[in-house]
Amino acid sequence: MIDIHSHILPGLDDGSKSIEETLGIVRQLQGTGFKTILATPHVLEGTDFLSPAEILTATADVCQAVAEAGISVEILPGAENYIFPDMGKWVRAGKLLTLGNTGKYILVELPMLEIPHYTDQVFFELQVEGLTPVLAHPERYKGLFQEPERLIDWAKKGILFQLDLRSLSGRYGPQPKQLAERMLSSDLIHFVGSDAHRVSRSDSVDREALQCVRQTIGEKRFREVTETNPQRILEGKIVPSGGEYLLKEPEIKKRKHRFWEWFRG
Ligand SMILES: [Fe+2]
Repeated sequence: MIDIHSHILPGLDDGSKSIEETLGIVRQLQGTGFKTILATPHVLEGTDFLSPAEILTATADVCQAVAEAGISVEILPGAENYIFPDMGKWVRAGKLLTLGNTGKYILVELPMLEIPHYTDQVFFELQVEGLTPVLAHPERYKGLFQEPERLIDWAKKGILFQLDLRSLSGRYGPQPKQLAERMLSSDLIHFVGSDAHRVSRSDSVDREALQCVRQTIGEKRFREVTETNPQRILEGKIVPSGGEYLLKEPEIKKRKHRFWEWFRG
């Protein structure tokens, strides 16, 4: 499996603080079943800006340390780019790193509390630059559990979605968990990511989340979101998207509803 979202580059953001911690995270993700991990440090416009060159150097260092430690996991470069109005221009100037550095897919993060008014414009401009935006953990944004229909609108425009596995454990609260389940049931998840910042206290959280994904979407689609689609990113190929989307209620809820209808009737 391929994890397209992690913070394993030591000392670059709020993720891993040392190479030892990085190796611990990589070993844990390997235990969960990931053979490839994309390192996606936070990239913000402004004084703390992290350049593609810095990320590429740090990724090469981690690759070397992982190999020296005898861990057979592939580490590839990427970035989690916090949205700002000039993103399209920055892409054109080569200032933002794409997923796997293949120049085709860009991981975009939104503010947690509200969706900026320029979001659609930025997505459009990124697409004009030939990039497909991949929205990091959509289920965690407050603005989206208030207005989930925006997900349908974006999906129709070819925006792709990365589920944060840990949302399914309820770690971020009931609403992200609920929206994650709803998106899975609605075929609105294209990739998964751990968003690992440090060694997790429990080895089983990601494993249980993956099991939940598998049960919800079935084996065929499970392979798509954990292997085939991320592999397409790395090869610069097209990830199938678009078409008619519909926000469905999670299966579990539906069953409950039917039971109460039967009970009342
Ligand atoms: Fe992240």
